[in-house]
Amino acid sequence: MATLATRNSASLLTRIAGFVFITLMVTSCYYDNEEYLYPELPGGECDTTGVTYSGVVSPLMASNCNGCHSPAAPSGGVVTSTYEGLKTAVNNGSFRKAINHETGASPMPKNGNKLPDCDLKKIDAWINQGAPQN
Ligand code: HEC
Repeated sequence: MATLATRNSASLLTRIAGFVFITLMVTSCYYDNEEYLYPELPGGECDTTGVTYSGVVSPLMASNCNGCHSPAAPSGGVVTSTYEGLKTAVNNGSFRKAINHETGASPMPKNGNKLPDCDLKKIDAWINQGAPQN
């Protein structure tokens, strides 16, 4: 009996060791690839290269801003649905302050949540290029 019990617990230990080893292998691979697999998750990369007005900024205005800032009824006199209107707000500084909820401008979107961090970074990259109509 004693011999049998010893042998059983020895093989149980071997199995536990094997399990721990395999688990470590699998989880270490998982962590290696996390950034590659989920580039847009918080803490991951936000790709701000190649941001254009037509590809990124204009669609963001359309889904978050133009409802209150069209030429027909421009809240606060600000138009975000045309390049010229937006460029005016960029140039006078109110656009950047408003979307980043900085002091000196009304926080936008009005009564809404701040845009996601990655979108704000992309808009920032576009402004830093000189806010071109590209
Ligand atoms: C629900 C309506 C609404 C939405 C949506 C909205 N705005 Fe506004 N916005 C206003 C109003 C109203 C004002 C006038 C100031 C005030 O009442 O706060 C304003 C003012 C502004 C100003 C001038 C701020 C200042 O203090 O000089 C800017 C710039 C602006 N909005 C940009 C945006 C941008 C960019 C978005 C989208 C991210 C947006 N707005 C979304 C209603 C809105």
